[in-house]
Formats: sequence, C-alpha cells, structure tokens
Amino acid sequence: MPALPTRTPHATRKGEEPIIRILGISGSGRRRSHNTALLEAAKELLPEDAALDVHDVSAFPLFNQDLEVEIPPPIRRFKEKVRRADAILFATPEHNYSISALLKNAIEWGNRPEEDNSWDGKPAAIMSASTSPRGGARAQLHLRQIMVDLNMYPINSPQLLLARAQQHFDANMKLTDLEFRGILRELLTSLVEWTRRLRSSA
Ligand SMILES: Cc1cc2nc3c(=O)[nH]c(=O)nc-3n(C[C@H](O)[C@H](O)[C@H](O)COP(=O)(O)O)c2cc1C
Repeated sequence: MPALPTRTPHATRKGEEPIIRILGISGSGRRRSHNTALLEAAKELLPEDAALDVHDVSAFPLFNQDLEVEIPPPIRRFKEKVRRADAILFATPEHNYSISALLKNAIEWGNRPEEDNSWDGKPAAIMSASTSPRGGARAQLHLRQIMVDLNMYPINSPQLLLARAQQHFDANMKLTDLEFRGILRELLTSLVEWTRRLRSSA
C-alpha cells in the first residue's frame, strides 16, 4: 500500500488519540438538498473522537486546464483543506446514473495540477440521497471508480443509500428516520476506525 501523506497530528484530547478531522463535501448546491442535509445530520451523529467540517463547493469555477497556471484562491483554500483533512465524507446525488457535475468539478480541482493530487491516500466514505427508489447506488459505484484514479481508500460498509429521500426529512431538512440515523452513525464510526487503522499501518 502506498504511504499515506504525513501530517502533523491534530489537536489531542488529554491522554487520548488525536481527533479525526473529516471534511464533508456535498454534490448538490440546492438550497434544500437532501445530500447537504445528510451532512448536517452527520454532525449530530459523529463519534466523540471526530469532527466534521462541511465545505461548500457549489460556487467553484468550472474546471479548465488553462486555469491551472494560476489556481483561483477559493480552489487553493479548498485543496489545502482536503490535504489537511484526515478523511473525506462525500454526500452525492445521482445525476443521470452518475455523480453530479458539481461534485465531479470539485474532484477534478482537487486532483490537479498533475503533481498535486490533494486526495492522494485519503480514507473516505460515501453516502447518497436520491428521490428515486434506488437511492443513488449507481452514483456511488461511479464515485468508487473515480476514487481508484484519485488513490483514495473508501470504506465498503455500511452502505448508506437513502432512497425516496423526501420521505426521511422534516420541514427543516432534519433527518428524522431513526433507521437511517443509525446507519449514518455506523458509517461515521467505521470511517473513523478505518482512518486510524490506515494511520497505524503507514
Ligand atoms: C439532472 C438530474 C438528473 C437526475 N438523475 C437521476 C438518476 O439518474 N438517478 C436517480 O436516482 N435520481 C436522479 N435524479 C434525482 C436526484 O437524485 C434528486 O433530485 C436528488 O434529491 C438530488 O439530490 P439533492 O436533494 O441533494 O439535490 C436526477 C436529478 C437531476 C436534477
């Protein structure tokens, strides 16, 4: 396994392991996005030894290789955040059987320029919310395929596919479904454990 990027351990709680810093990215810029709402729910369900920061990627310029000569400041800040994160949590909608263009755009920026792949070696987890009965399964598989090229290490289970998403949130976009809140808690715990395992073997 290639070496994980070395980094300074984050703030440590007294006598314990360093906190695992997770960076959350939603593939939807919609105001009442179910995927962004899933990330908000994740903040409430984190293990004690983890923190989640959600970064809004919806206003990024469309990736164009000509822009690589002078990376726009918001992209530079984003790439730095990705680099500093211990793990990545993607919340992706399914658009045309794949991930959204918005998420793909953020992924491409993170991956470029060629010698500066900010995703390299990052543990990751995927969740998806879709209004369809499939819950975004095809988008998740496409994202896994993309992660091979990015050299990321996604967890395999649990799978969090929120089908008919509109039925699982209240009027304030709070995730109300107890079963899915449980799966989300498991996903986060699994991501944190996986991140620690990769670290200890690096
Ligand atoms: C352009 C477009 C394409 C879509 N294609 C799919 C699809 O292939 N499969 C699916 O399950 N849902 C599809 N949907 C429905 C989305 O999954 C649904 O709108 C979802 O709620 C979007 O996530 P959000 O609430 O986070 O914005 C599509 C929606 C849009 C706007």
